Amino acid sequence: MSFELKAYLEKRRQTVEAELKQLLHADETSARIVQAMSYSLMAGGKRLRPILCLAACEALGGNPSHALPIGCAIEMVHTYSLIHDDLPAMDNDTLRRGKPTCHVAFDEATAILAGDALLTLAFGVIAQIQPQQEGDPAPSPAVRLRMIQLLSDAAGIRGMIEGQMQDMLSEGAPSGLEALERMHRLKTGAMIEASVACGVLAGGGRENDVEAFRRYGHHIGLAFQIQDDILNVEGDPQIMGKAAGTDQMRRKTTYPSLLGLENARSMAKAHRDEAIEALERYDEKAVPLRALADYIIHRNR
Ligand code: IPE
Ligand code: IPE
Ligand code: MG
Ligand code: MG
Repeated sequence: MSFELKAYLEKRRQTVEAELKQLLHADETSARIVQAMSYSLMAGGKRLRPILCLAACEALGGNPSHALPIGCAIEMVHTYSLIHDDLPAMDNDTLRRGKPTCHVAFDEATAILAGDALLTLAFGVIAQIQPQQEGDPAPSPAVRLRMIQLLSDAAGIRGMIEGQMQDMLSEGAPSGLEALERMHRLKTGAMIEASVACGVLAGGGRENDVEAFRRYGHHIGLAFQIQDDILNVEGDPQIMGKAAGTDQMRRKTTYPSLLGLENARSMAKAHRDEAIEALERYDEKAVPLRALADYIIHRNR
């Protein structure tokens, strides 16, 4: 079966963006804070996390629309993390998603609040998940609670926040491969793993499915971050919509700085292969996830 990933990504991106717009109601208010949230949320990210979430739901035979609200909640948390990551106190970056960063376009205080508000809104969205269409089963409260727990773990001190903290502490303090992998697993991998796991729950998966898909998420999460490090060395800022060369400037330990570009590339491929292997027992409904694992290491943005 031939699978057109490009068309698939584009279609899913449009679905996700329509839902994000709807959830934010940005058109209905001129409030500065909502404008700032919308500015960053609708700035045109790849929407990889919600797309993975929908694809995981689909792989289990679920209707991908059932994973849409949780996927969008995850994208809100991801966008908040980018707004704060770009702040002067953190990476002090001026370009994100091809536009001036939130604190440049608005101001620092507004950017902090916009991030806080997106994080808060995400959990409200999960609390209110409704059936998408008439006749859909409503996700049970137990499923929604599990999603809240997964996202809270992935975004907080068991995931992204601890990874960001380790990232900050490691600037100019070279670390080894093990510490680097741990940091990336927390900083980036945890949110990607949670995206896939929440998709499984939305698709009615069982515990052994969650297990297998988390393994997939673990490996694509690492592959994703290795490729991010590679793009920081040799990517085109025009295409990426963010600056390149910043890791070396900030003396960060990265996969290319530790292993060299070629070995970093091989490691990304090995993680892609392990991710695909984790889904071995799933049928052709998992084709998009397999293609996404490959996309992650070949992407140029
Ligand atoms: C960028 O994430 C930040 C990292 C976790 C490395 P993405 O590359 O998914 O960024 P967007 O969402 O497409 O802007
Ligand atoms: C940002 O990480 C990812 C978050 C967890 C917020 P980086 O600082 O490494 O990524 P970019 O280069 O700013 O996207
Ligand atoms: Mg950073
Ligand atoms: Mg950064």
